[in-house]
Amino acid sequence: MRITIVGCGSIGSKLAKAADDMEEVKRIYLVDIKKDIADKVAAGLKKAIVVDSVEDELYHCDLVIESSTQEAAREIAPRVVSRGVDMMIMSVGSLVDDDYRQALFQKAKEHEAKIFIPTGALCGVDGLRSAAGDEILSVTLTTTKGPKSLTDIQYLIDKGIDVNTVKEKTVVYSGPAREAVKIFPKNINVAATVALLGIGFDRTQVKIVLDPMATSNSHELDVEGNFGRFVSHTYNVPSPDNPKTSYLAALSAIAALKRICRNEWVGI
Ligand SMILES: NC(=O)c1ccc[n+]([C@@H]2O[C@H](COP(=O)([O-])OP(=O)(O)OC[C@H]3O[C@@H](n4cnc5c(N)ncnc54)[C@H](O)[C@@H]3O)[C@@H](O)[C@H]2O)c1
Repeated sequence: MRITIVGCGSIGSKLAKAADDMEEVKRIYLVDIKKDIADKVAAGLKKAIVVDSVEDELYHCDLVIESSTQEAAREIAPRVVSRGVDMMIMSVGSLVDDDYRQALFQKAKEHEAKIFIPTGALCGVDGLRSAAGDEILSVTLTTTKGPKSLTDIQYLIDKGIDVNTVKEKTVVYSGPAREAVKIFPKNINVAATVALLGIGFDRTQVKIVLDPMATSNSHELDVEGNFGRFVSHTYNVPSPDNPKTSYLAALSAIAALKRICRNEWVGI
């Protein structure tokens, strides 16, 4: 299998390293808007080369993995699936717009390309997927983050919340997933994954809690439906190279790639 990784930051670099060790992966093409970042990652790998654009090697590529930004994902995904190439999306918030998402999925279907969305930095997604086979009454995702994970968010700045001076646990957002993924594009991709699997962006409720003492990005997923109820708690270690991203997100991308290239679907 030949893969292209778009975005060689916290997730992309770890994924590239893991892919380099997978015998099923023969070639890794790396793309980053900052070429020096891709060059640095490629320098430590056996199978990787840097290319200027995802299009450069699309004919030779079986799977494109996006680990960059929502904007880049929105731009790249339709171009990739239109060429019949499979696509893995990490910036899941890019799928919030219903018209865009439906058009993308339709295009993928027409061109027989698959779209993969890893579980990301959240546990319990397996239960939600099964539960969605019958009626789900409510889905609430409560995410707790420390100040470093919530810096430079315009919504919080506009509300006069200085994340570095908040002294107590504070709910800084409460509302539908649709709004949450737009306001916090780098922080709450899991809300988009949960919305897509469960009851959609408008009915999925999201709470974001700023905890000045938090050392992890934690998620509580509470789902109630005809199956019963489950509550899952995930206490994530933030990536040292990007505190907005949890290490589990990179591990989930690596696990997804292994499942795809080995065709082993335990826990599907
Ligand atoms: N699904 C999940 O659970 C989950 C969890 C964490 C992060 N994410 C998302 O995954 C994405 C990657 O996260 P990260 O922590 O690796 O981010 P990062 O900031 O560490 O790395 C992103 C990289 O993409 C590059 N980039 C930006 N725009 C680009 C473009 N147009 N073309 C090519 N490269 C571009 C940047 O230069 C950077 O090197 C983000 O959108 C993040 O929000 C998803």
